[in-house]
Amino acid sequence: MNGTGESLTKGDLILSLRGVSKQFGAVTALADIELDIHAGEVVALVGDNGAGKSTLVKVLAGVHQPTSGTIQYMGREVNFDTPGKALEMGIATVFQDLALCENLDVVANLFLGHEVNPWRLDEVQMEVRAWTLLQELAARIPSVREPIASLSGGQRQTVAIARSLLLDPKIIMLDEPTAALGVAQTAEVLNLIERVRDRGHGVILISHNMEDVRAVADRIVVLRLGRNNGVFTAESSHQDLVAAITGATENSVSRRAARKLEEAER
Ligand SMILES: Nc1ncnc2c1ncn2[C@@H]1O[C@H](COP(=O)(O)OP(=O)(O)O)[C@@H](O)[C@H]1O
Ligand SMILES: [Mg+2]
Repeated sequence: MNGTGESLTKGDLILSLRGVSKQFGAVTALADIELDIHAGEVVALVGDNGAGKSTLVKVLAGVHQPTSGTIQYMGREVNFDTPGKALEMGIATVFQDLALCENLDVVANLFLGHEVNPWRLDEVQMEVRAWTLLQELAARIPSVREPIASLSGGQRQTVAIARSLLLDPKIIMLDEPTAALGVAQTAEVLNLIERVRDRGHGVILISHNMEDVRAVADRIVVLRLGRNNGVFTAESSHQDLVAAITGATENSVSRRAARKLEEAER
């Protein structure tokens, strides 16, 4: 069983962006972005500061509207007009600040804001469902009645990710989920990301940490100055990846092309 309903199997195309651009006045935050997300894969979104990562996430989360371009979702062209609509359609976002309530326990945080729909569960049902989900995710949470304030950074991230799964999204976007974590907690969150992927969700991971990205990403999509600047895998060389992020790739690509041309002319 996967968490995304019957209509998806691993490898199915969920989301497809074509020529997506976003202007803020005179500033071009995104230009002609292409991005495909499939069921059961982790796609890392990497790039230097100002590359457009956050803007792209906000476009997919319904916070920003693209200036031009098309978004296909589950085979249909869509607009994510509002954050509520994106969430309702199956795109969940775990923002960097997590937005958990320190004084409330794990169960309360998991169901925060979900009380209105689609389940009207009582406390016992909520606790059972919370435990089931956390166990499915093999999450290391001591007790679902523990207040968030007493949990580690990794456990908080786990709760935030579990909460985003409750509405059974097709895609989950994680913004720098390991940025504030130590080595052991980072490993725990990376394991969790793999389990989320194995449930059949498409995962978009924004991270500055190339080691983390290489550990879990099936594809690494590089943005630079608001544009696509290459797609890599864990097998790609670190040098090539860094070159794409910093912009040196244009030179090496053009050098290689020039060399090929020379060879052909000989
Ligand atoms: N709300 C906004 N208004 C104006 N410019 C913005 C806004 N949001 C982002 N930008 C600009 O868009 C570009 C991409 O930013 P951002 O998406 O935050 O990049 P990243 O997350 O990769 O660091 C930057 O030049 C940034 O200054
Ligand atoms: Mg950002």
